[in-house]
Amino acid sequence: MSKTILAISGSLRDRSSNTQILKLIGTWLPADISYDIYDGMGDLPHFIPAAEDEAFPKAVQSLHNQLDEADAVIICTPEYAFGLPGSLKNLLDWTVATGNFVDKPVAVITASSQGSYAHPSLLTTLGALSANIVDDATLLIPFIRAKMDTNGNITDEATERELHTVIDNLLQAIT
Ligand SMILES: Cc1cc2nc3c(=O)[nH]c(=O)nc-3n(C[C@H](O)[C@H](O)[C@H](O)COP(=O)(O)O)c2cc1C
Repeated sequence: MSKTILAISGSLRDRSSNTQILKLIGTWLPADISYDIYDGMGDLPHFIPAAEDEAFPKAVQSLHNQLDEADAVIICTPEYAFGLPGSLKNLLDWTVATGNFVDKPVAVITASSQGSYAHPSLLTTLGALSANIVDDATLLIPFIRAKMDTNGNITDEATERELHTVIDNLLQAIT
């Protein structure tokens, strides 16, 4: 049966290198993998814990549905001010009560100027969400802007190899 991967970029920036990486990964996947890049992060309201009988906002329901339908998730994010982008943390907070990441195979890529704070922080948060962070499917890419051309191609061979390994390991976990 064909598998579905949902990709989430932590950057809402036009021409984001993280979104470019996710687009590039999409070109590497086998044809029988259904691959979507989530485009609703900017529409999510600020997280407020819901009362028990309260329905989630539409944008949040859509996020939950897309996560529930995915066999695996790839998160690719920059670091802002030594931490996770607030928008990405907000997205993750919306999944705490509903458990959408529980046991979900996840690959984690941090592509940033440095990224050394955001990367472990994201792994910690995903741990709190009981996600299945796939062995050897995590990668910190520092100096990302020097490793990518204006067309979104990775120009650093070692980084490209490491990215392929991340994706191969994620695929192995779900196929
Ligand atoms: C407000 C702001 C704060 C930033 N803070 C950090 C930081 O703390 N650590 C880091 O590695 N990069 C930092 N950066 C650099 C970004 O990680 C870098 O611009 C990255 O390429 C952004 O990802 P994107 O291309 O996917 O949008 C910062 C950038 C901005 C705009």
